[in-house]
Amino acid sequence: MIDQLNQFEQAALARLSGLAEAAALQAWKSETFGKQSLLSTALGELGKLPKEERPAVGKRTNEIKRALEAAFAEKESAVRAAELERSLRAEALDVTLPGRPLRRGRLHIANQNLRQIYSIWADMGFQIYRSREVETDEYNFGLLNMPPHHPARDMWDTFHTPTPGIILRTHTSPGQIHAMRELYPDPIRVILPGMVYRYEQITVRSEIQFNQIEGLAVGKGIRMTDLKGTLTDFARRMFGQTVRTRFRADHFPFTEPSAEMDVECFVCGGQGCPVCKQTGWLEILGCGMVHPAVLKNGGYDPRVYSGFAFGMGPERMAMLKYKIEDIRYFWGNDLRFLEQF
Ligand code: PHE
Repeated sequence: MIDQLNQFEQAALARLSGLAEAAALQAWKSETFGKQSLLSTALGELGKLPKEERPAVGKRTNEIKRALEAAFAEKESAVRAAELERSLRAEALDVTLPGRPLRRGRLHIANQNLRQIYSIWADMGFQIYRSREVETDEYNFGLLNMPPHHPARDMWDTFHTPTPGIILRTHTSPGQIHAMRELYPDPIRVILPGMVYRYEQITVRSEIQFNQIEGLAVGKGIRMTDLKGTLTDFARRMFGQTVRTRFRADHFPFTEPSAEMDVECFVCGGQGCPVCKQTGWLEILGCGMVHPAVLKNGGYDPRVYSGFAFGMGPERMAMLKYKIEDIRYFWGNDLRFLEQF
């Protein structure tokens, strides 16, 4: 019996030394220690042996079992190390390669330009006031002194919705009424930026959507000179301290008197060129003293309060500043254009 056990041990060790894979090791393990193996059956059959042989056989069986277990553990860790080594070599990762550079995004030119304008107005004490893009006919026109069928409504070609009286705002001026109704009776100094929509033929100079920045100041004793001084100061901060400006009389139903402000053409320096259509001047905004009817619609008594308002087109200003020839580039999403800024 002892001989048989010794042979079993030798054979098992010999097979073990030839193995190199985890799966084969597991198979070896169950053959060697499983219920059918000699190690198990020998212990089960101890009772059948002559009494004097039993201790020696029991002892030898346990020795062999421990020896094989130790050999197995050693082999198993060697095989694991070899497999790790192999996979490291096969899936080599060169950590010295430089990483892929992240593509850095940037603000859209329209937003860069808007933020520059916001910061100028912020320096001058104007807060940003947000107002809705979907408006009622009443706010967009009626409360701005343009009752239904007023011919001045034709100045803004309008997108209507299927809901009667609900439109896309054609200008940021309805925000004047929202701001006044919310802020009354406080004095007001706000700008109202945002997208406006016009049902127009899209051309080099006109888009169906563009940003506007409305401005509104309401208080006691505000005069036309405040409007002129404030807007001239803005133009200098925006285009340079030496830029010349001029005001021309104009008409808007919601301001009285009304004006347009021009800045000296910075392409030709006022000499006259194709950009300024030989006039030497570029129009950048409409403005005026808030009409008494509009103040009243906003809740401010026009005998006590006065104010000025203006509306400028930031994309138009950016076109002049960067000599952008076609307004359609702004929303065309062409990276060749956008990456220039
Ligand atoms: N809302 C006018 C426009 O879209 C501009 C404007 C605003 C004029 C405020 C006067 C005062 O053309």
